[in-house]
Amino acid sequence: MNRVMRLLRSHRSIRKFTGEPVADSLIQEIIRCGQAAATSSNLQATTVIRVRDAAVRGEMARLAGGQTYVSTAGAFLVFCADLNRSRRACEMQGGNFAEGMTEHFIIATVDVALFAQNCAVAAESAGLGICYIGGIRNDPERMSALLDLPDQIYPVFGFCLGYPAQDPEVKPRLPLAVVLKEGRYQNDDDPDGIRRYDEQLRHYYRTRTGGTKDSCWTREMQALVGKESRPHMREFLKSCGFVMK
Ligand SMILES: Cc1cc2nc3c(=O)[nH]c(=O)nc-3n(C[C@H](O)[C@H](O)[C@H](O)COP(=O)(O)O)c2cc1C
Repeated sequence: MNRVMRLLRSHRSIRKFTGEPVADSLIQEIIRCGQAAATSSNLQATTVIRVRDAAVRGEMARLAGGQTYVSTAGAFLVFCADLNRSRRACEMQGGNFAEGMTEHFIIATVDVALFAQNCAVAAESAGLGICYIGGIRNDPERMSALLDLPDQIYPVFGFCLGYPAQDPEVKPRLPLAVVLKEGRYQNDDDPDGIRRYDEQLRHYYRTRTGGTKDSCWTREMQALVGKESRPHMREFLKSCGFVMK
């Protein structure tokens, strides 16, 4: 492994931060690293909004289900998928924006994820910790209102970053054979690997939480995909112009 690989393999989400602020110049460097990520057809669909106002951050922490680190992290960013800018560019050339294409929605959302992950790696390389906050989609309408988002932009996730005040263990991942296939998809052998992973993750939770959390991956997946998840998202996306044609 080289240094970059070691850095990538050492990622863990940070949810406790020292009060030390993150310098504006460092945040700008991190965002430039985000901009350097590959982007579908040079679409550059990411807009990042840094939220500084303590009251607004408090409100966002509440909307995200009481995730206090949204307020306490050195900085809080919201990553938005933005087709508003490319629409304007199209119109500047006298074109008509093809509103509501599913493909445009996919490429904009993928762009945001790649941009943000570059930011995550850049931040971690500078000694910062990060945590993505999907919880902002609990109430995306209110989030959009707080951020004054116009049509054709939606908030994909929030992003806490700051100096870590904790040093959690790296969370184990699925065995390689479960995620890396040769030539064609086949999952006959996956249950064995998944069971092994269940045990590994159970051990991770037990040791990390002093025995208070007793869970494993399959149980987490039951909780996640065994029920509807943020069913308001479809209508919300429609309401801001992502009608999915
Ligand atoms: C898009 C996205 C949204 C997430 N949302 C939250 C969140 O709202 N709150 C939280 O504490 N962690 C959140 N996470 C962090 C994941 O829980 C975490 O990455 C995962 O459990 C693996 O742990 P690790 O990052 O420590 O390796 C999110 C991660 C991603 C990629």
